[in-house]
Amino acid sequence: MAKEENNLMDKIESLCKRRGFVFPGSEIYGGLANSWDYGPLGVELKNNIKNLWWKRFVQQRDDMVGIDAALIMNPKVWQASGHLENFSDPLVECKKCHHRFREDLLEDKKKCPDCKGELMDAKQFNLMLKTFLGSTEDDANVVYFRPETAQAMFVDFKNVLDTTRRKLPFGIAQIGKAFRNEITPGNFIFRTREFEQMEIEYFIKEKGWENVFEYWRNEMQLWMTEELGLDKNSIHELDVPDGERAHYSKKTIDFEFDFPFGRKELYGLAYRTDFDLKNHFKEAQYEDSETKEKIYPHVVEPTFGVDRSILAVLCNSYKEEDGRIFLKLNPKLAPYKVAVSCLKKNDEKLVSKAEEIYHELKKEFYANFDNRGNAGKYYGSQDEIGTPYCIMVDFQTLEDNTVTVRDRDTTKQERIKADELLNFLKNELI
Ligand code: GAP
Repeated sequence: MAKEENNLMDKIESLCKRRGFVFPGSEIYGGLANSWDYGPLGVELKNNIKNLWWKRFVQQRDDMVGIDAALIMNPKVWQASGHLENFSDPLVECKKCHHRFREDLLEDKKKCPDCKGELMDAKQFNLMLKTFLGSTEDDANVVYFRPETAQAMFVDFKNVLDTTRRKLPFGIAQIGKAFRNEITPGNFIFRTREFEQMEIEYFIKEKGWENVFEYWRNEMQLWMTEELGLDKNSIHELDVPDGERAHYSKKTIDFEFDFPFGRKELYGLAYRTDFDLKNHFKEAQYEDSETKEKIYPHVVEPTFGVDRSILAVLCNSYKEEDGRIFLKLNPKLAPYKVAVSCLKKNDEKLVSKAEEIYHELKKEFYANFDNRGNAGKYYGSQDEIGTPYCIMVDFQTLEDNTVTVRDRDTTKQERIKADELLNFLKNELI
């Protein structure tokens, strides 16, 4: 990896910790291998992404409904879905230092990347995270944390159908945690053992699945560019070849992003055929309205990792220009939409006017109040967390009720009437 690229990841990780986006998990106890906690600003960014996604793909559509299922499902789910048998990665261990690696990620499959020792033959390692339900830790009580949110959409298929009377084509969406006992987690929040997914299982008739696949391919591109604001040139599609796709998929496209540590999978789009519904339901549940025949719908699945979305957005928006650092976030994603400060921290009239404006704006937008009375630090600090607009209350404000509004990306300031701030921000941000 080039030094500069490594450097960018270090800078992003350091900014995330310094400003409260992402902290190392369980840090005071020495951490826990690649677990991360979202801090006060991270949870805002994450919620903004999830809410935008839910609005766009569920609430604004007529052909989509949502669910929120349990993380631990009956183990028979994983038997039927094929995960118990097939959801594994090839694991190799070094004969000398006993470090373990995912064989498919190694450039040299014979030598240990850490000590150059000889590697043992690969074994298949199941990625599902096990635990016990109930008070006895025996085989009968073994359960698994879900490795994908998708299965709940199949298992709940009949309940959704019965309660919503949907007709094909329609989709079921879910946002939630998934768990995988990854052999080699790493690259900050890119690959972790606990992560979040936003998934859609889109149910269709088999005929014409290619068109539906194409439709979702385009929708995913639009999400990445229009909502996340990712640079089109940093996104690449990989048609996953035979033999490398998940066990349920007949066609998969990986959407890859140019992360600082290389071009890696951001999202996936798969044609899962009727594989899942057939394995879960002995009889077909859906009645074709034309033929009155019971059929198993086929499925196209767009899947989006939440944590990878966040990492891609941070990498894409981190800018260093003219000696300043700023996050050029789509305003819809920015944790704070606006910040308010005043020129002197000990001037009662200025402070009280600034507070008045802040409380008014806070009713509509998540806003931040900076009371340090230092314009340079105020702007620098808001730039670093991607706040699109900074308001400054100064002595002129007390005379004519105008404030300055500074634009994060251009640093240009304009004077506008305090009474017009809400409308101005609504125009710019919504
Ligand atoms: N239901 C299909 C499915 O789970 P996947 O490609 O295995 O497909 C979907 O995972 C998405 O979940 C990935 O594209 C990625 O964004 C995210 N993801 C998968 N494993 C991850 C991990 N260990 N850490 C963070 N995100 C992960």
